Amino acid sequence: MKAQIIGTGSYIPEMIMSNHDLEKKVQTNDQWIVERTGIRERRIAASDESTSDLAVKAARKAIEAAGIGPDQIDFIIVATSMPDMFFPSTACIVQDKLKATRAAAFDLSAACSGFVYALSVGEQFVRSGGSQYVLVIGAETMSRLTDWTDRSTCILFGDGAGAAVLAPSDSENGILSVHLHTDGKLWDLICVPGGGSAMPVSEKVLAEHLNTIQMKGSETFRVAVRNLEEVAREALQSNGLSTSDVDFIVPHQANIRILNAVASRLDIPKEKMVVNLDRYGNTSAASIPVALDEAVLDGRIKKGNIILFLAFGGGLTWASALVRY
Ligand code: UT7
Repeated sequence: MKAQIIGTGSYIPEMIMSNHDLEKKVQTNDQWIVERTGIRERRIAASDESTSDLAVKAARKAIEAAGIGPDQIDFIIVATSMPDMFFPSTACIVQDKLKATRAAAFDLSAACSGFVYALSVGEQFVRSGGSQYVLVIGAETMSRLTDWTDRSTCILFGDGAGAAVLAPSDSENGILSVHLHTDGKLWDLICVPGGGSAMPVSEKVLAEHLNTIQMKGSETFRVAVRNLEEVAREALQSNGLSTSDVDFIVPHQANIRILNAVASRLDIPKEKMVVNLDRYGNTSAASIPVALDEAVLDGRIKKGNIILFLAFGGGLTWASALVRY
């Protein structure tokens, strides 16, 4: 039995922070940011909006699109790097806000690869026959993990949430394969070192901004291109498909130069890449489900299309999911 995506939804906060707004905070400029990343603006959650608020707004749309009620959901998985609090999980808070009373709920941490990791877990619940409906969410308030004095990272990230409802498939459509990878040796390429058990919050942590994102950008860039190409080829090979069989790639939205390099290595036309990072920046685990939802809503992605999700992020983690939509 396959699991299929029967509904998608997304939510992006209203407040826009443009590159020109960032010029007032750090020594940067619109031209540099656009040329080096492709990002023009990003969204920032309101001060009273938490990750679970974003998640719930995306989830409600996905549940409605799926044509079910919250009380029918068996599992809620929230992929996030910025939970509402250490515990309980953000997924528990989402369960309460949705009144999805019979759903078991937990968070999953795989940084920017979180949505594909969560999709993989949700898929297993459905395929095993143990669950009918699984709600998979990627939701982030990256603005709260951002060092607004560090020009090398603060230009990159944004807030948002995307969701998908999984159900058993009664057709050939569904998730055809998932491949997950991790290289823990590279954990320090992108991390938030302070605030956890290894380095609890202290005056030093706050003074040195160690409770915010620390990233080795150019090294991360190189590994991202290589790993995304490899995991894409792995997905196609394991399904006996070639790049020309893919209708759309829905990649993690980190940097347009990464996406262009991957498209060129795979010999895939750029039009087949779903890109929204110019408007939202890197929303970490939310970026793939937000891009998916937008492409479904604007009619680009249609039932039966072959879609390749490609994810990459801290851990290091990287992953693919090949889906007949
Ligand atoms: O979600 C997945 C995780 N993250 C990623 O995938 C990010 C991957 N990496 C990247 O996207 C890129 O490495 C960045 C966009 C972060 C940086 O681009 P880069 O081409 O690798 O630049 P760089 O770090 O090599 O810096 C080049 C120059 C430096 O100046 P010097 O030393 O050459 O004088 C930086 O100080 O650009 C400078 N620079 C900036 N200048 C203007 C760095 N950030 C900025 C900035 N504005 N915001």
